[in-house]
Amino acid sequence: MSGASLAGRRIVVSAGPTFEDIDPVRFIGNRSSGKMGFAVAEAAARRGAQVVLVAGPVSLHTPQGVERVDVRSARQMREAVIAALPADVYIGAAAVADYAPAVIAPGKIKKKEEQLTLALVRTPDILAEVAVHERRPAMVVGFAAETHDVEFYARGKLEKKRVDLIAANRVGVSGSGFESDDNALTVYWAGGARALGPAPKTELADQLLDLILTRWPA
Ligand code: PMT
Repeated sequence: MSGASLAGRRIVVSAGPTFEDIDPVRFIGNRSSGKMGFAVAEAAARRGAQVVLVAGPVSLHTPQGVERVDVRSARQMREAVIAALPADVYIGAAAVADYAPAVIAPGKIKKKEEQLTLALVRTPDILAEVAVHERRPAMVVGFAAETHDVEFYARGKLEKKRVDLIAANRVGVSGSGFESDDNALTVYWAGGARALGPAPKTELADQLLDLILTRWPA
């Protein structure tokens, strides 16, 4: 199965962080570099898929043959992902902010009191929405970034977000997760799991695509 062609398949991949603006100079962000999602997009395009890569703010070159849509916030990422449907596969590798400021201050917030409280509101859950969308891809694949109890939380996301696969990785340790060139994934599905790596993200991308093909609904 390794390296099997994806010609004729349309694959939407999200990558990178989202930035949620607080005011014109500050935002809430995270440490995602986009490397994992870009590697998946690149591998899928190399195998002949039509790939749409919805990218948060990252400093990476667009892989050859990939259609890239740049976004900043979770709300913008959601719009770009939904607009890219229908597709055969959605792979959510982006580290989407779970909360965003309730209001974006129009001017720079000035320093006054000793404490500043920001009201945050939930962002749209893009993965969960794609999984129940009327144009749901045949395969919906999420990631899970966890510091501990990886299987427990990954299986929880698999079920709650109603996705086909969850690729879990450890964050907060060196050699995997955010920013690193390497990663190690455990991919969970209802009734099974497979460990991929540790390996460079470029290799894991191909291994993940191979696994997606083996789990394709009959
Ligand atoms: O970008 P790199 O530096 O290469 O790092 C790679 C990575 C660690 C970011 C990547 O491998 C990864 O784990 N991505 C998912 C990170 C994450 O936000 O995980 P989560 O457990 O918070 O979210 C679970 C899933 O729901 C993810 O597929 C996420 O894209 C999705 N989600 C989360 C919140 C939200 N509002 N909408 C979503 O779609």
